[in-house]
Amino acid sequence: MSGPDTPNHVNNAAGPLVEARGLSHDRSGQCVLQIGDWQLNSGAHALLLGPSGSGKTSFINIVTGLLTPTHGDLLVAGEAMSALPPAGRDGLRRRTIGLVFQTLRLIPALSVTDNLALAQQLALGSVDRAAIAQMIDRVGLSHRAAARPRQLSQGEGQRAAIARALITRPRLVVADEPTSALDDANAARMIDLMFEVAAATGATLLVATHDGRIAERFANRLDLVAPPAKAA
Ligand SMILES: Nc1ncnc2c1ncn2[C@@H]1O[C@H](COP(=O)(O)OP(=O)(O)OP(=O)(O)O)[C@@H](O)[C@H]1O
Ligand SMILES: [Mg+2]
Repeated sequence: MSGPDTPNHVNNAAGPLVEARGLSHDRSGQCVLQIGDWQLNSGAHALLLGPSGSGKTSFINIVTGLLTPTHGDLLVAGEAMSALPPAGRDGLRRRTIGLVFQTLRLIPALSVTDNLALAQQLALGSVDRAAIAQMIDRVGLSHRAAARPRQLSQGEGQRAAIARALITRPRLVVADEPTSALDDANAARMIDLMFEVAAATGATLLVATHDGRIAERFANRLDLVAPPAKAA
């Protein structure tokens, strides 16, 4: 039986959790992301750094199967996310990844509690209300558990989105600027929580940020540079 500290999925594969092979992405004929070969091993929490426009969100969208790279392959847990049909990508994402979008994308019609419940139902096939209440408490939103996303402040929404990503105990937590709207105390609290949940469940973190307050917590970095502007 699974408990709160049991990983959603045990990684039996010997290979890296995320692997880019010859990966790059063009938009309108211009290269916006140049990764090449890169690997993220289980437990090797990594930071994705780079100035605005350097391709952080594009890379996250490729890792999570929301964007198809124009060149190369992206594998998650040994499966070629970039080569799967849409339904296969959705399944691999649900089974493996907890995602914090830069734009949050909480479901507007659902309360904070029900946003977490839906994520749990989709990823795990069941809902654990006690675990949801505990996670909402850990992000400091117990008093807003019944609120709809539009009733939350930006920082409260960010904390709800982090809670939603962690409640499924994913093997891979991918977060796009998860602390951008948070004050110092809440930024520290959220990054502590992400590391704590990762340690308890065996999850691996991949976090895009500009936020110098959290950068020092990560041993591994993937630095993106903005590609040179296309010559006129
Ligand atoms: N849907 C799109 N259509 C065309 N170009 C896009 C699209 N989305 C992003 N781009 C371009 O791709 C490049 C990389 O964008 P991306 O959003 O990945 O950067 P980012 O590093 O996440 O930036 P930020 O720190 O501002 O969030 C930018 O030049 C951007 O203008
Ligand atoms: Mg971005």
